[in-house]
Amino acid sequence: MCGIIGFTGYLDVKNVLLEGLEALEYRGYDSAGIAFFEQDGIKTIKTTGKVSNLIDKVEKNGNNSTCGIGHTRWATHGGVSDTNSHPHTFGNVTLIHNGIIENYHELETELAKQGKYPVSQTDTEIAAMLIDSLYHGDPMDTIKKAMSQLEGAYAFCILFADQPDVIYCLRNGSPLVACQSKEGSVIASDMVALIKYSKEYFVLPELHIAKLTKDNIEVTNFDGEIVIPQKLYVKWDMSAARKGGYEHFMLKEIHEQPSSLRSTIMPRIVNGSLPDLSGDGIPDTIFDDINRVIITACGTAMHAGLVGRVLIEKLIRIPVTVEIASEFRYQDPIMDENTLVITISQSGETADTLAALRLSNENKAKTVSIVNVKGSSIARESNYVLYTHAGPEIAVASTKAYTAQLSCIYLLALQFAKAKKAISDTECTSFIHHLQQVIPAVEKTLFLEKELDEISSHLKETQDLFFIGRGIDYPLSCEGSIKLKEISYIHSEAYAAGELKHGTLSLIIEGIPVIALATQANVYSKMISNIREVRARGAMVILVTNGDIALDSSIFDYHIALPELDDMFTPFTTAVVLQLLAYYTTLHRGYNVDQPRNLAKSVTVE
Ligand code: AGP
Repeated sequence: MCGIIGFTGYLDVKNVLLEGLEALEYRGYDSAGIAFFEQDGIKTIKTTGKVSNLIDKVEKNGNNSTCGIGHTRWATHGGVSDTNSHPHTFGNVTLIHNGIIENYHELETELAKQGKYPVSQTDTEIAAMLIDSLYHGDPMDTIKKAMSQLEGAYAFCILFADQPDVIYCLRNGSPLVACQSKEGSVIASDMVALIKYSKEYFVLPELHIAKLTKDNIEVTNFDGEIVIPQKLYVKWDMSAARKGGYEHFMLKEIHEQPSSLRSTIMPRIVNGSLPDLSGDGIPDTIFDDINRVIITACGTAMHAGLVGRVLIEKLIRIPVTVEIASEFRYQDPIMDENTLVITISQSGETADTLAALRLSNENKAKTVSIVNVKGSSIARESNYVLYTHAGPEIAVASTKAYTAQLSCIYLLALQFAKAKKAISDTECTSFIHHLQQVIPAVEKTLFLEKELDEISSHLKETQDLFFIGRGIDYPLSCEGSIKLKEISYIHSEAYAAGELKHGTLSLIIEGIPVIALATQANVYSKMISNIREVRARGAMVILVTNGDIALDSSIFDYHIALPELDDMFTPFTTAVVLQLLAYYTTLHRGYNVDQPRNLAKSVTVE
C-alpha cells in the first residue's frame, strides 16, 4: 500500500532514503517524502507525484545527515496533495505510516478538546498528534500508551525531535522488515529496500517496538522484554530487484517465468516421478479427514485459485469453493477441522486475505498458504506454507508470481491426490512429466512475443473487449481480463463462453475484440460454436489454441498457437500469452506498465 524506509548509520541518509524509495515506489506512488535530523532539528521534504519529483527537491549538498525516514504514498484518507503527503509532524513527533487508523475520527475529536487540530485530511497526522500528546520524554512509554489507543492496521517509523539519530518503529498488520549492517540500521516495508545492505533480515513481530540506533536494533515486546526475532535470508540479490536491462519490470518478470517455475517446481520433485513437499514441512497427514477445500485470495491470486478448483475436483473428487477474500471474511463461512483452506498471496500481506486466513484459523480449519515473500504475515500465520520461489515481483501486474502459484497448486493437488490414493503411481509419474514439460513450453511461448506485439497494435483504440473460455480456460479468461484492465485501462470482461448468449452477446457488435481461449479438447467444438456466434455479429476474434491445429480461417482474425501441452497444463502457456498481450497493448496505448494509475503492488488495507 505505501512504501516505508528508515535508516540511521554512517551514510548520507538522504541518498539512502531516496534510493530506498525508488525501490519501494511500486508500493504506492501518489506522493513521496523524507524527514531527517539536521543540526537544528528535523527537516522534512515532501511532494506529490513520483519519487523523481522528490529527488529534484532534495539538494544533494547540505550537511551530512545520517538518520531519517522516507515514505511513498498510496492515498487512503485524504486526497493526493503536498499537505497530505508523509512524513507528518506534530510537536515533537515526525512519523510515516502504512495502514489505516480506523478510530482516527474519535481520536481527532478527543484531541480537539485539547485544542489540537490537524492541518491535513489524513489519519496519519492524527496518530502523530496522539503520540505527541502522550510524549513526556520517554518514547517507549509513549508508544505503548499510543498503541493501546490506536485501532486499525499500521506500520510506523517515528522520530522524536529530542532523540537525534534514533528511529522508533512499530507495526500491527502492516509489514516491516529490518537489518543491521556495517553501514547502519535499516527498516523498510519489504526486502527490496534492504537488500543493498544485507541479505540477512528479520520481520518485526506484530505489536513489538524496534529502536534503531546506528549500531543496533533493539526489539521489545509490549511488556518491555527484549526479543531476538528469527533471522531470515534472501537468496536473490539487488539485481533481482532492478530491471536487468528490460524496459519494464513487468517484461523482465514475464521473461523470468521459466526460471521462477524451475525454482518452484524442481526442488519438489523426487526421482523425476513423485511430488515431495517434505522440504516444506507439509506431511501427507494434513489431508486426512479433509472433506472439502476452500481457496481464498484476491485478484490474480484468486484466479490462480479458480484453476486450483478445477484441478483438485478433477483429481480428488471432493468439493472445492473459491472465495474472494474480501467477501469470505464477512460471510460467516461454513468450515471446520475437516476443511482445508488454501490462501494464495504473492505479497503475503494482503489485508483481506490475511483476515480470511485468521478467520479460518479461528474456525479450526487446516490452513495452507501459497506465498512468495518469506516470513510474511500470511506465511507465518498459516499452519503450513508452500513458498513460490519467484523472487521479488515489482510490477503491479502479477505475472511470474501467478504462474508460480499455479505450479504450487498443481504440486499440492498431486500430493493431495496421492495421499488420498486418488491417483495411481503411473498417473502420478505422467502428471509430474507434464508439469516438467511446462517449463520448456513457457520458454517457447515467449518466442511469440513479436507476434503478440503486432496483434496488440490492433487493440490500441479498443474501448471494450471480451475474454471467453470453457473449463480451465474460463479462469484464464478472468486472469487475462484483469491483466489487460489494470495496465491498459481497456474495459474488458471475462465470460464463460457458454454463458455469453444469455445476455452479454447483446454487446458484441462490429469490431468488438473477443479473445477466445480454446485449449480444451473436451469442449473445443462447443467453443468453436461460441466463436461462430460472436463472429456472426462482427467480432474481431483472437483465437488461442493448444498447438497449431487445422482451423476454419473464417472464424478468426488472429490465431495464436500455444506450444502443445497436455490439456490440464495449458494455463501456464495461456497465461504467458495473455500477459504479453496486456503488456504490449499498454505500450501501444502509452501508459505506465509497471505503475498503473490508482493501484499499488500490495494492498495491505481493506
Ligand atoms: C495482480 O495483477 C494484481 N496486482 C492484484 O490483483 C493482486 O493479485 C492482488 O492484489 C493480490 O495480491 P497478493 O497476491 O499479494 O495477495
